Amino acid sequence: MSRELLLAKYPESFAGLTSYAHWLATAGVERGLIGPRETERIWDRHIANCAAMAELIPANARVIDIGSGAGLPGLVLGIVRPDIHVTLIEPLQRRCDFLNEVIADLELGQRVEVTRGRAQDVSVAKADVVTARAVAPLNKLLTWALPLVAPGGQVLAMKGSSAPTEIEEAASVLKNRNAEIILCGQDLVDPMTTVVRVSS
Ligand SMILES: C[S@@+](CC[C@H](N)C(=O)[O-])C[C@H]1O[C@@H](n2cnc3c(N)ncnc32)[C@H](O)[C@@H]1O
Repeated sequence: MSRELLLAKYPESFAGLTSYAHWLATAGVERGLIGPRETERIWDRHIANCAAMAELIPANARVIDIGSGAGLPGLVLGIVRPDIHVTLIEPLQRRCDFLNEVIADLELGQRVEVTRGRAQDVSVAKADVVTARAVAPLNKLLTWALPLVAPGGQVLAMKGSSAPTEIEEAASVLKNRNAEIILCGQDLVDPMTTVVRVSS
């Protein structure tokens, strides 16, 4: 179902999404970047859920994705949004190798790049948007993400039902910043994707 919805919403990116789904289901599983049981859910649980975040990203944004793993959500965003620049930050070499191979195959190298390292250690230009999915609890994630956000920018953290509790627990890091829970992807996923947005 998600596949058809993605085709309708992103017809020009659909070939790229299909190639990426194939990479995840083959090399991604063989190299242990994604569980074998995930192959049936690649479109719904992974690609569509991540693509849902695209509606929150301003035009021509510079995006940093922390802890990309196999490229979620950063690579998906780079595929469906040809106007943005994405830096994928990932500490593990074999994951970086996979990401670089996919970027080369999909010819995304002009706009999507990989920086190997931990988010708290890397030296990269600040971004308009910093994304992350399944990397760390919000309080820890924000200590890594906020220093990477340019003035006026935002952190978009994909979270599930734990979002309200994680926001409460991040109070000392948030200080007077606003954290909102946003549901996105109404036309792509059911249930909708939950994102915590923190403005810098
Ligand atoms: C559970 S995986 C999630 C991967 C991907 N975001 C996803 O949703 O499928 C967590 C990823 O965060 C990376 N990671 C862990 N600590 C990190 C740090 N301090 N900075 C950047 N990435 C980190 C790990 O190497 C791993 O690839």
